[in-house]
Amino acid sequence: MDDVKTMQEQHIELFAPDIKSKVVMDVRAITKSLPLGRERIDILKGISFQILSGEFVAIVGPSGSGKSTLLGIIAGLDNPTSGQVLIDDVDITRMSEGQLATVRNNKIGMVFQAYNLIPTLTAQENVEVPLYVGKHKGSPSSRAKELLTLVGLAHRLSHRPSQLSGGEQQRVAIARSLATDPAIVIADEPTGNLDARNGENVLSLIADLRDKTGKTFIIATHDQNVASHADRAIRIVDGLIASIESMAGRSIQ
Ligand SMILES: Nc1ncnc2c1ncn2[C@@H]1O[C@H](COP(=O)(O)OP(=O)(O)OP(=O)(O)O)[C@@H](O)[C@H]1O
Ligand SMILES: [Mg+2]
Repeated sequence: MDDVKTMQEQHIELFAPDIKSKVVMDVRAITKSLPLGRERIDILKGISFQILSGEFVAIVGPSGSGKSTLLGIIAGLDNPTSGQVLIDDVDITRMSEGQLATVRNNKIGMVFQAYNLIPTLTAQENVEVPLYVGKHKGSPSSRAKELLTLVGLAHRLSHRPSQLSGGEQQRVAIARSLATDPAIVIADEPTGNLDARNGENVLSLIADLRDKTGKTFIIATHDQNVASHADRAIRIVDGLIASIESMAGRSIQ
């Protein structure tokens, strides 16, 4: 089976032959069902895809299609009912809670729709927080300053979340997601609470950070417009992949 190329590999060969296609995440036949009263509901019904290192991918689909459930599973926050998620060739669905916590702390950064910043801490302190969990190189304060500069907030280091606009708070949350230098950043509806202009700013920031850092970004959105900023859109309808679309002319590195 090794010489059988996936559609994605064929696409890269055709359109971007000089790209080294390292698979950073391999999602295999994920299902999720939950009890609901006396019945079970099938939320995810067999989802498979691969994500390459440095890709910006949108998981897009209507409300209730299973996007957040899927993100929770690929981020190691939730278990699938069946199937595997391999991150750098290691199956995270078979890990103990302790091993999973290490993967989440070292390999994955998370961004949420409601920013989830700690209200009593400054922007800089919020970005430092993940660096006090586990072992990380360098000083938390200089790392936090460097990241807030990268997201354009060098002038807001001492502001608390209530003193920042929604767009600025989301940029702090993105800086925080990068603090531990993860390979993959996973964002659930990162523009969901923002107006159109601030939403566009956050999406261009993500695209720009992808270019500057070479990290992999996976976002979930119900908005096709938001998804069109990504390299690829994986469309989910009713717990199944309906289509995978590559945006023409967009590079996949
Ligand atoms: N803990 C749970 N118990 C029962 N049903 C659940 C649970 N979590 C999610 N669901 C159901 O699973 C389906 C998928 O939910 P999910 O939150 O993954 O959708 P989504 O695509 O993220 O939607 P949205 O765009 O509104 O955020 C929904 O029908 C939801 O009601
Ligand atoms: Mg959701």
